[in-house]
Amino acid sequence: MLKPFTLQSRRALLRFLAASPLAYGRGLGLRAGDALAQSEGSIEDAAHAVNVFDFEAYVKRHMQIGHYTYMAYGSDDSSMLEVNREGFRRIRLRPRRLVDVSAIDTSVELFGERYAMPIFCAPCGAQQAFHPEGEVAVARAARAKNTLQILSTVTNRSVEDVASARGAPLWFQLYPTSDWNVTRAMIRRAEDAGCAALALTVDIPARNMEESARLRRDTNRECVGCHTGDPWSTKPMFAGVDMSSLRMSVAGLTWDYVDRLKDATSMKVLVKGIVTADDALIALERGVDGLIVSNHGGRAEASGISSIESLQEVVAAVQGRVPILVDSGFRRGTDIFKALAIGADAICIGRPYLWGLGAFGQSGVERVLDILTRELEIVMTQMGTASLAEITPSSIVVSG
Ligand SMILES: Cc1cc2nc3c(=O)[nH]c(=O)nc-3n(C[C@H](O)[C@H](O)[C@H](O)COP(=O)(O)O)c2cc1C
Repeated sequence: MLKPFTLQSRRALLRFLAASPLAYGRGLGLRAGDALAQSEGSIEDAAHAVNVFDFEAYVKRHMQIGHYTYMAYGSDDSSMLEVNREGFRRIRLRPRRLVDVSAIDTSVELFGERYAMPIFCAPCGAQQAFHPEGEVAVARAARAKNTLQILSTVTNRSVEDVASARGAPLWFQLYPTSDWNVTRAMIRRAEDAGCAALALTVDIPARNMEESARLRRDTNRECVGCHTGDPWSTKPMFAGVDMSSLRMSVAGLTWDYVDRLKDATSMKVLVKGIVTADDALIALERGVDGLIVSNHGGRAEASGISSIESLQEVVAAVQGRVPILVDSGFRRGTDIFKALAIGADAICIGRPYLWGLGAFGQSGVERVLDILTRELEIVMTQMGTASLAEITPSSIVVSG
């Protein structure tokens, strides 16, 4: 029986709302379903978390406001965060009964490497903003759980340090710079550090980050480690580079750049930020080794199309010719299952592992990976699919 809405539960809801970004009057567009899924952030240890939102609630309370804002919001009015979540709600699951799923296997193989789970850590910049050990703590967690870490160009820790903490090949995410020699040197460093793949991010030729702009105006952003003086020159991938005339973009970037990258490296080359079948087909013509369907976690544009919708058209166009990863808005095992059923090979998370990192460092990231894997195992059990190979579109219903 449903419990009546008591004064106590009303207080709890009000406390939640007061702690949420909605209270700033510029909410993240969260719906009641998400709100009720979140706890009050009362965890004191990573092991206490029962879902990934427990970590979000924790960092919302404890993290420095500038760092929280950098992580949490999206572009324009942040509406893409809700669009991404809504996309998952339009897909429903078809549980199957009396199938022997006593041995669930969530492992996945990609480019010859086997990972324990199809849940990878997306490239996210400046992770010392969330924890002093930054990307190295994430590497240790990825090592402990045997999953893939994709390292951002704007990492706070060098690719050499992170690769050594991970103890297995990373992937390196590339933001091209205006100077090809600088970019090429960075690619060489990634290769020398043993990175297996290069993911070229193509989805932010321009963007409008309103909350960060507001905060820059309103607060003193002094923070050693991320933005004392010039923010770029403190990043280890730019050590020794004269940043005075360097831009973190290439004017008039086109598909020719993908050819250039393929000629410049022996690593696999993937493109991150593809959201249409049209671009997926061009990428295939250019010979990419894989695609990452992504709208940058709602931090790129305000297209109104969720990443899971984009995944459907990209999968239909690619027809299994190259591996497809997808990210943006994954928070639950059911979300992951839906993407696998549509045809993704693996998914990436961004904010959820940053919440874990910000709350408790390595153990927080490990717990986030454990929670999502356990949730995936539960839904695989319900769907009667013992391995990823058994997950097919017959497990889902997509409404229009
Ligand atoms: C704080 C933060 C920093 C990010 N930095 C990068 C980056 O440096 N390079 C990149 O390709 N994507 C970056 N992303 C996007 C992520 O790789 C990923 O696409 C996104 O976080 C997935 O959505 P989710 O946060 O909803 O899981 C960043 C995301 C966040 C939240």
